[in-house]
Amino acid sequence: ALTLTTAGTTVTGAPGLAAPTGSGRPQPAAATPTPGSPGLGDSYFPDYGNGGYDVDHYDIRLRYEPSTDRLGGTTTILATAKKDLSRFDLDFALDVESVRVNGRVAGFARAGDHELVVTPARSLAKGQQLTVVVRYAGVPSQTKVYGYTGWTRTADGALAVNEPESAWWWYPSNDHPKDKATWDVSVSVPTGVEVVSNGVQPRDPLPEAGNRTRWSWRSVKPGATYQAFLAIGQYDIVTDTAPNGQPVVNAYSTTLGERGPAARASIERTAEIVDWESGLFGPYPFEAQGGVAAPVDGIGFALETQTRPVYGPGFWRRGANPYVVVHENAHQWFGDSVSVAAWRNIWLNEGFASYAEWLWSEEQDEGTAQELFDFTYSSYPADSEFWQVLPGDPGADRVFDDAVYDRGAMALHQIRLAVGDPAFFRILRAWTAQRQYGNGTIEQFQALAERVSGRDLDMVFTTWLFTAGRPDVGATARATS
Ligand code: ARG
Ligand code: ZN
Repeated sequence: ALTLTTAGTTVTGAPGLAAPTGSGRPQPAAATPTPGSPGLGDSYFPDYGNGGYDVDHYDIRLRYEPSTDRLGGTTTILATAKKDLSRFDLDFALDVESVRVNGRVAGFARAGDHELVVTPARSLAKGQQLTVVVRYAGVPSQTKVYGYTGWTRTADGALAVNEPESAWWWYPSNDHPKDKATWDVSVSVPTGVEVVSNGVQPRDPLPEAGNRTRWSWRSVKPGATYQAFLAIGQYDIVTDTAPNGQPVVNAYSTTLGERGPAARASIERTAEIVDWESGLFGPYPFEAQGGVAAPVDGIGFALETQTRPVYGPGFWRRGANPYVVVHENAHQWFGDSVSVAAWRNIWLNEGFASYAEWLWSEEQDEGTAQELFDFTYSSYPADSEFWQVLPGDPGADRVFDDAVYDRGAMALHQIRLAVGDPAFFRILRAWTAQRQYGNGTIEQFQALAERVSGRDLDMVFTTWLFTAGRPDVGATARATS
């Protein structure tokens, strides 16, 4: 420690404290480095994400054994300290072998199911760049957090596809949409197994010793942590060029059997659908396009993974289904480029992606948005539990409730009726332009909609997003006309 005596005041601190200015006046004591918080205080998921630093890039370098589900490797995190830090947390569930921070071996300890507490050899100063190298290994399908794993093992490989958390089982992260970053993924697998992920392939699959192949994927636009995905298994990979010149990479599990043709007929329309959506929502925000048809024994949902949604086999049960492709790609604007600032704002994702399906129906002459509104409204009886869930604040255990999707789409239709088509589509494009690669809240969307339309929309937002019970359609229409 260093002891300085200036004008009768003794200041003691560690090397690295700011030197005295020589003014002769007492210097303010430098802030003592303190721990970063173990969560970002999300009202639904308070322990998701971590305070004290912001990630710029993840370099995820893995090795996977489909026969045992063993996953191991190294993730290098490039981040910036947001305060003077004595230690910080990462969100992660697999077993950690070592952690280094800025080249030095760091201490680490587990706290709870998904916190990894990292204590660097030297504390970090606000604004300092940090490079965190984490080595780890584990069996993700057997690694439970709150009794659950978001890693799906299949007969021929695995899927890392989940929301709101997915990274816990395959890379250490700051797991909250508030901390967006770019990422590189490379995975070594036995030759003959395919690995599909987000973005583009910066290099061809590379043969490695032991009859293995290393696949590389790169995402160059910032994304939320849960946007990164892995699909490992037997896939037909089909590449093409989109109308806007971007690469399209579609991947079809070879396990789909009689559902395979419907999966292809749907996912093949991705570039056409993205082109149509670009006309409504503004320029497509990412560097590549595509879709992944997950295996028969894969996930029971679809996810808007950035640049390349992943679709569970259930969507092809009744033949080709462009609606789910419309939905997941609408999320590229609403959810992926503009992400929720906190999970209670999930309507900004699911309401909008669902409304995109109504717009597609209207465009295809398969029913207008008004007809779909009327149909949806009357398909839920007034006394249904459905009307008790608030799309604007559904609660942590109901973020994917039907109300967020269906009543959420109804809410957008009411906003559209209140402001008229020209203002409605101007609002959508202003939202995606102003908040591109950022975050938003429902309150910010309402403020923008009111600014663009010149209307007070409080009645519509309150009625459709924040009031329990089936709204009286006539009453809102009269109040806003
Ligand atoms: N965002 C997804 C969608 O587009 C829903 C994901 C639901 N997640 C889950 N683990 N079931 O509908
Ligand atoms: Zn969705």
